Amino acid sequence: MNNNAIGVFDSGLGGLTCVRELNRLLPAEDIVYFGDTARIPYGTRSRKTVMSYAAQDAAFIKRHNVKIIIAACGTVSSVAAEDESFAGDTLFTGVVLPAARAACAATKNGKIGVIGTSATVRTGAYEKAVRSICPGFEVIGVACPLFVPLVENGFAVPGDPVTALVADRYLAPLKSAGVDVLILGCTHYPLMEDAIRSCVGGDVALISSGAEAAKYACTLLTSLKMLNGSEGGGTNTYYTSDSARMFAESASLYLGGEVNGKVIKVSLEELTRFQA
Ligand code: DGL
Repeated sequence: MNNNAIGVFDSGLGGLTCVRELNRLLPAEDIVYFGDTARIPYGTRSRKTVMSYAAQDAAFIKRHNVKIIIAACGTVSSVAAEDESFAGDTLFTGVVLPAARAACAATKNGKIGVIGTSATVRTGAYEKAVRSICPGFEVIGVACPLFVPLVENGFAVPGDPVTALVADRYLAPLKSAGVDVLILGCTHYPLMEDAIRSCVGGDVALISSGAEAAKYACTLLTSLKMLNGSEGGGTNTYYTSDSARMFAESASLYLGGEVNGKVIKVSLEELTRFQA
């Protein structure tokens, strides 16, 4: 048994799609979340910048004595796929490998689509992960840089014509390629599910990278006998680098319910002192 918290971080609120699944699977666990809302988006930035932000985020999370760190950010997970040194000796997972494994298990025709930020798609990390599991599978990656701003600005509501148009444009090549599984390679994208589903149709399996990372963390902690042994329910504590009020106002959308914990602001000055 290990009663330390599970640490989760993201560039913003998207990683809450992972927290939602963690709360469902592991209700006894304490969760410490950090969303870097002052510096989002990460997906349009250089590798060097993303790595330096990720190191600060992970170092901040580590200060809370966590037993595992989840980078619930497709961009960080992809950019750091070959260098996870910022996690040090703390147990770590990103979202790429768990999502790739789920996609490989779900596909019937071996054609997998991946959508993510420009940085994510540029790295080819999901493609490499899928091919490391099933070398013969075809993987088609498409960057969808307008999806995060649409979600962040409240356009991800069912039937919104702007969102539908953008989704149609981005997803057309995946439709014509005949993918039967689509990895939502950015943790914000489950909020776009309605628009994505309308474009690709009901037969394509959608894989939420945040939820898959939560399932993987659950399996890992179970097999290592590191679950929380206490009887009561766990607590969630949310840290954000921008306004706590704004974080709390939007978080329920991602969590699929009330914001079940304190929201605390961390200044960027404080955050940048937390270098791994
Ligand atoms: N949640 C981030 C990701 O999964 C959002 C994108 C961003 O920061 O640009 O990639």
